[in-house]
Amino acid sequence: MKENLRKRAIEVLDANFQEGGFTIPSKGLYPFQWKWDSGFIAIGFAHYDVEKAKTEIHSLLDAQWENGFIPHIVFHSDNDSYFPGPDFHQSERHPLSSKKYRSTGMTQPPVTGFVLQEMYRIAEDKQDMLAFVKDHIDKVYANHVYFYENRDPHNEGLVYIYHNWESGTDNSPVWDDIWSTMNPPEYTFERRDTTHVDASQRPTKREYDHYLYLIDIAKEHNYDDARIAELSPFLVQDPLFNAMLIKSNEALLELYKLIGGNGDKEKTLQQWQKMSIRNFNNKLFDSELGAYVHYDLRNGKPIRFVSSSSFSPLFANIPDQERAEILVKTMMERFGGEGKYLCASFDPTNERFNPKKYWRGPVWINMNWVLYYGLKNYRFDEIAERVRQDSIALIERDGFFEYFDCRKDTGESQRTGYGGNNFSWSAALLLDLLKEG
Ligand code: DGY
Repeated sequence: MKENLRKRAIEVLDANFQEGGFTIPSKGLYPFQWKWDSGFIAIGFAHYDVEKAKTEIHSLLDAQWENGFIPHIVFHSDNDSYFPGPDFHQSERHPLSSKKYRSTGMTQPPVTGFVLQEMYRIAEDKQDMLAFVKDHIDKVYANHVYFYENRDPHNEGLVYIYHNWESGTDNSPVWDDIWSTMNPPEYTFERRDTTHVDASQRPTKREYDHYLYLIDIAKEHNYDDARIAELSPFLVQDPLFNAMLIKSNEALLELYKLIGGNGDKEKTLQQWQKMSIRNFNNKLFDSELGAYVHYDLRNGKPIRFVSSSSFSPLFANIPDQERAEILVKTMMERFGGEGKYLCASFDPTNERFNPKKYWRGPVWINMNWVLYYGLKNYRFDEIAERVRQDSIALIERDGFFEYFDCRKDTGESQRTGYGGNNFSWSAALLLDLLKEG
């Protein structure tokens, strides 16, 4: 059974790998290279085809801008089955954008640092992988310099995102209160996502108006970070995004130590870590909720909801043991009830929870992967094992879907898998989780 699942996962990944040296997340729905998808995909490839893993990361970093920025989508082709495409984003407006690739002018969670470390952990030929890491690590470091220099206006060690698509958790209910502070124009455009999956699983037209308007504001200022920080109605310190950055800092530190001769960078990384972890704990922990929350930097207040992002700091060793126990208690009470797979992406006890709709509640395999390793960090081995087993069970039950309903009993249809099918990171991370057994 395990061997069969593994074989199918490899088939999914190989079928999504493109001649241009990158992997699409899912046929039809997502026809380009996405930043954080690419990282998780490379972890899967590292388990059976090291060269593809390297190619994936190499091609992502090839699209890096001269200021260290790495875009959330690299448009490798002119495929017009996706909206909003390169003509809407117009990344070329930024003077330091890539001359080789068109892309978006927004980013996604900084996973690439810890992905390099994972590739090194998984690789059998350590010397060979270390040579690859050595050739690419400075680009990832430059990406972190970009974040600390351009996305942290108050020098807190906590970087902001200016668009919900930068968070990765695209239409989370966490953003709803920010939408209510905005009144974007009604855009006329042709949705492509809803030709690939049922509209009831995707964000609404009005939500898209907000998404497009945020891009238009950034575009109007040629994606200038200082202007965006000043003007964007959406400016958020996101616990998942910052936990990924901190985890990647830690990974870069360890990799630079292995490589040797990078004392200055190690020192800077240590300084970032100290400040980031301290302020993360001081600013983003909500003791009443027993969880980390988002902070709305534009409107100067915490966004008090519990989501799977609230638990991601476990992955980056951010809480101390006592606080980790509080977090896990919150997770089990709200998300871990009987009849539920771990871990819903949004608080199932909240009225905004929706088990079928994109990031408004379903289980995502990449978040489960983050939680699995996070729980292991603090020796919550039994719960970690439940997260691992639930992830495998969901994929076994319905296939390699983009996301899954967290309810074990879904009524007549008994369906749990939604969104795009044959989804790359579900396959890639399953390969990693199967190895952990
Ligand atoms: C989409 O089109 O929904 C993407 O997730 C944006 O990154």
